[in-house]
Amino acid sequence: MAITSWIRTFPLMQYLVSWAQEQFMAVLKTGPVPQHIAFVMDGNRRFARRRKLEVREGHSAGFESLSYILEMCYQVGIKVVTVYAFSIENFKRPAVEVDALMEIARTKLLQIIHHGDLADRFGISIRVLGQRSMIPSDVLAAVDKCTEMTKHNTTAILNICFPYTSRDDIATSMREIVELSKEHKVDPSQIDEKMLEQHMFTKDCPPLDILVRTSGVERLSDFMLWQCHQDCTIEFVDCLWPEFEAWRFGAILLKWSRSKSIEYRKSELEQEQKLI
Ligand code: FPP
Ligand code: MG
Repeated sequence: MAITSWIRTFPLMQYLVSWAQEQFMAVLKTGPVPQHIAFVMDGNRRFARRRKLEVREGHSAGFESLSYILEMCYQVGIKVVTVYAFSIENFKRPAVEVDALMEIARTKLLQIIHHGDLADRFGISIRVLGQRSMIPSDVLAAVDKCTEMTKHNTTAILNICFPYTSRDDIATSMREIVELSKEHKVDPSQIDEKMLEQHMFTKDCPPLDILVRTSGVERLSDFMLWQCHQDCTIEFVDCLWPEFEAWRFGAILLKWSRSKSIEYRKSELEQEQKLI
């Protein structure tokens, strides 16, 4: 059992850990806070294997981890969180695992929108990004209910990429633009990066500030390829997603905030020197 999970089994310790976490978040809020953060929640099956659990249980543990990381994100004031919940490539996994992931998505989506749960508490608009046509009908019904019920929330956004790949996102954007150009609504000479971006699934989101991938694997696996621009920090973390604890995430936020503070201070000094 991870150390903070073990500590939390004692009520007083749980209270103290939560209190310390709240104080830490309050301090973080005083500095620059990322606007948009993305997660590749990798390592659920290895977590299950190491603990002799079913694969499905590994993914369920992954959802628990996601729940408290989302709480931290929205508590600290991050506006948009984008998570890689299901890659188009994941359809190649055994049917029993695909079915389990679909069932987790269906039940958890309905849970998130319950009165008093995550979406309600933080005013989150939930969006599901990817190929709708690949989603089974019962899961699609949950997706539609979830997006419809939360579409008027304006405080924050949760993008659930499901079933998604970046190359499919870019191809879909291109297809839309080609259609518009066939209808003479777009002049092909005007097609540029900005236009491609305006047709992507993340079109109305702020630029991605941080991408986190757990499990020690250092690749993007066809996620946020376009969005990982020069100002995006990529963090590869050497622990499995269900073991991604609050302190690890806190350390990433603190590091990013400090680096931004230094950048802002530098540009302020440059401005001052120009004025002298
Ligand atoms: C990657 O670990 C994880 C996934 C493919 C699924 C992640 C999904 C969840 C945590 C549930 C999310 C649900 C909602 C509604 C947002 P892996 O299976 O590749 O594990 P491995 O790297 O150890 O093989
Ligand atoms: Mg993996």
